[in-house]
Amino acid sequence: MSEPIDIDSTSMRALVEGFPKMLRLSSPSEAIIDSARALAKQGIQGVCLVGMGGSAISGDICKGLVRNVAEIPVVQIRDYGVPKYVDKDWVSIVVSYSGNTEETLLSFNEIRERRGSAFVITSGGKLQDMATDVPVYKLVDGIQPRAAVPLILSIVLPLIETLLGIPMSDLIAASHELERMPESWAKSGLTPNKVAHELSDVLPVFVGAEHLAPVAYRAKCQINENSKTPSFHSELPEANHNEIEAYVLYRQRRVMPVFLSSNWYDERVKKRIKETRSILSEQGVDSLQLESEGSTRLAETLGHVYRLDLASVEMAELRGVDPLSVPLISKLKKRV
Ligand code: PA5
Repeated sequence: MSEPIDIDSTSMRALVEGFPKMLRLSSPSEAIIDSARALAKQGIQGVCLVGMGGSAISGDICKGLVRNVAEIPVVQIRDYGVPKYVDKDWVSIVVSYSGNTEETLLSFNEIRERRGSAFVITSGGKLQDMATDVPVYKLVDGIQPRAAVPLILSIVLPLIETLLGIPMSDLIAASHELERMPESWAKSGLTPNKVAHELSDVLPVFVGAEHLAPVAYRAKCQINENSKTPSFHSELPEANHNEIEAYVLYRQRRVMPVFLSSNWYDERVKKRIKETRSILSEQGVDSLQLESEGSTRLAETLGHVYRLDLASVEMAELRGVDPLSVPLISKLKKRV
């Protein structure tokens, strides 16, 4: 179980500011890692990550981090059920913060019916009740699922790495690096507050590639949920094959592309970002580029998440809305 977080869970700002600390508060037990090791030894065909919304994003981020080294497929499923190929030879990691998300519950049921192995990560709910015969990691309850990302990611990443038989990432070192990042954001002039001001009157489109594609998606979701404003995401190189034709209208519609840089991108992707920004500028469209911070791919990835999570809270405060509550998500859940 996660240690008590000792952070004011009624304040999204406090939770997001606690991101680096939360990375150190949960880790899988030896028993969980041993089960994963035993499954890996036995031989598995793939890893299936199951979850929705704030409970799913850690899976996307981890999938991005192992994309260059995984020798078996790692898929993320957000649906009422999992594909047929997820059979007894696959291992699933099923995450639902509340434990009551209907899509996730149905998928978990299907996995068990097919005799697939699974790990469950939840703070309770029906999922915990259903998970009687699989290893369960219990999250502390009482926080918003999207704010629990560092707690969830510090379980999902070591689990995936063990299942894939690859070296474990150093989450503690990354967490300490994250704590130092606000200083370098201040030096570069792009603090979360500045990013929020830049984005407060435009429609942001976060653009990422490779391991940062899920980070672009995370930023879009955080701005939707925390600041309750529209936001989109796209991915390179794919966006160069379609979206580029829409740039002419970007200025008129007040669209602002925000590029996420990486020291680890393929040189061809770096060139695409440079040329894409140059074409945007020729069309009179301003764009923003968030530089990479962090000495490892993990720290860089989480550094972008941390800065943009904070920016989404700043945007909420600029608009005078509560970043914590998501009344329409709750209303819809009651209706379906
Ligand atoms: O951020 C949120 O509140 C949502 O995106 C939820 O994570 C999503 O609705 C799924 O719920 P849960 O995380 O409890 O499975």
